Amino acid sequence: MRYLAAACGLALAGCGAGDAEAEPTLKGKVLAKTADVPVGGGTMNEDLKIVVTQPEAGVYKAFSSLCTHKGCVVSTPENNVITCACHGSEFAADSGKATKGPATGALAAYQVKVEGDGVVVA
Ligand code: FES
Repeated sequence: MRYLAAACGLALAGCGAGDAEAEPTLKGKVLAKTADVPVGGGTMNEDLKIVVTQPEAGVYKAFSSLCTHKGCVVSTPENNVITCACHGSEFAADSGKATKGPATGALAAYQVKVEGDGVVVA
């Protein structure tokens, strides 16, 4: 259980599935370079614990990489599916919604936009 406490200790306000708003300090932060985010896949910003996805060409999304089940870090998506290796939950790479349990809550979403060659928090 120690990993869960550590994950939630990162940002108390952001601990939990319901917080879908980017924290003010992240606004304008470059999460990834667009070139590093394959269509149907994604890339992990390990410092910020955010997974950036490109569910369809030119559409970028970003979600907390902390699983809503027990807080493990999820994988980067393959074929638009984000998987948590701890207990097998799956999340949609376009919405963050849980598509397979045991997790039921969606990954917390961040609003992002493309600026230059980067995906940044809007
Ligand atoms: S912590 Fe992700 S499925 Fe259990």
